[in-house]
Amino acid sequence: MRCHTPPSIGGAPTDFRLDVYEDTPLADGRVIRGARTMARFIAYRAGEQGTMPPDFPRNDGQRDTLVNWWENGAPLGGLERNRLPRAELLSELSQADDELVTLEYEVSDADDDLVSGSVRVGDRVIAELVKNGRGSASINPATLEEGDHRIVATLTDDLSRRDVTMGTLVVRHADGNTAPDVTLGNSLFDGLLSDLQFPLNLTVTLSDPDPADALSFDISAFRGSEEVAIESGVAAVVGENVFSWTSAADLPEGPGWRLRIVASDGTASSTYESNRFYLSHQSTQLTYADVEPLLYEACAACHHDGEIPGPTAPNFIAGPDAKGNVDLLRGRLYRRVILERTMPPPSADAIAQREGLPWRALSAVELAIVGEYLLGGSPD
Ligand code: HEC
Repeated sequence: MRCHTPPSIGGAPTDFRLDVYEDTPLADGRVIRGARTMARFIAYRAGEQGTMPPDFPRNDGQRDTLVNWWENGAPLGGLERNRLPRAELLSELSQADDELVTLEYEVSDADDDLVSGSVRVGDRVIAELVKNGRGSASINPATLEEGDHRIVATLTDDLSRRDVTMGTLVVRHADGNTAPDVTLGNSLFDGLLSDLQFPLNLTVTLSDPDPADALSFDISAFRGSEEVAIESGVAAVVGENVFSWTSAADLPEGPGWRLRIVASDGTASSTYESNRFYLSHQSTQLTYADVEPLLYEACAACHHDGEIPGPTAPNFIAGPDAKGNVDLLRGRLYRRVILERTMPPPSADAIAQREGLPWRALSAVELAIVGEYLLGGSPD
């Protein structure tokens, strides 16, 4: 639990959590896998193989229990007298109009069950991956319609699921105007953006409950105090606006860039900030044919879609769209393999030997080839 629950620590992957039995679908379409889905990997890594938790292997009895649990279909088990999870608001609610309101809450369970869920204000989700204990989330009331908005936590302890109303946020705007809300639909900024990706279509979604408002938005890229305008004063409509970002040539190369979109209705504005991305201006003569054999030899032992050990490793090497997977994961590949050197894991050699799998480490030159290929935008 210490590592495999949000926020995950020690480099633990963020696409699963083991404090929850079922999978958790997120608003952006991602799915955080729960213990039921991960059962086979839990049984393998912590049970059979004993390489998890790192440094603190379980004893034989515990390992057998995990393997038995999986072999028997990873049942949840039932508790007849389950008590329901609770959530309460710790913040005093203000009625601030334009300032960000931070709501603090506490989630608990009388049975000490592990709880997960989300918190929303009206129909706006402000926190996902909620868990036992204290948490907080912010919302800008300027972007909410005037009126009373219920603050609701949707909670599950895996045996029950329910909505808990924690309070009400009363929103009044001095001039009766609601600010537009803005989000970016692209998830591309989870990683590495290279010149090859341009022109890049940005999908900006705006909402504004005031029907008469004329909307506009400004897009810029920023990093610390550096800020470069991408497009200013774009006229816009409620709903999706697709905007073509033609080139990032005027942005210095490097990590830590984010996109900022400020939406305005002429009276009030609100701001969206994207995840960080690494911007690369590097070009390359390399193609996928140059790196495919390297990835295959150094990675496919684990990253394939067959039997264990392919533990929680996504299948980006073999399979019908291996190249497409490399594009999708370009940023993560670069981070894990080149920047952090956490992939392949240090245990790769031992695992491969024990499982009798063909595997070899990449040489420094081969790593440089993979790095150049990724920075160059992973061309076909
Ligand atoms: C010994 C097995 C093994 C080998 C070999 C291996 N990996 Fe992994 N990889 C894993 C496992 C297990 C995970 C999931 C856990 C994690 O993220 O650490 C993973 C995760 C990753 C991730 C993160 C994926 C995501 O969605 O966040 C990337 C990227 C990755 N590996 C790249 C590589 C590359 C590239 C190679 C070869 C150069 C490689 N790995 C070799 C086992 C392996």
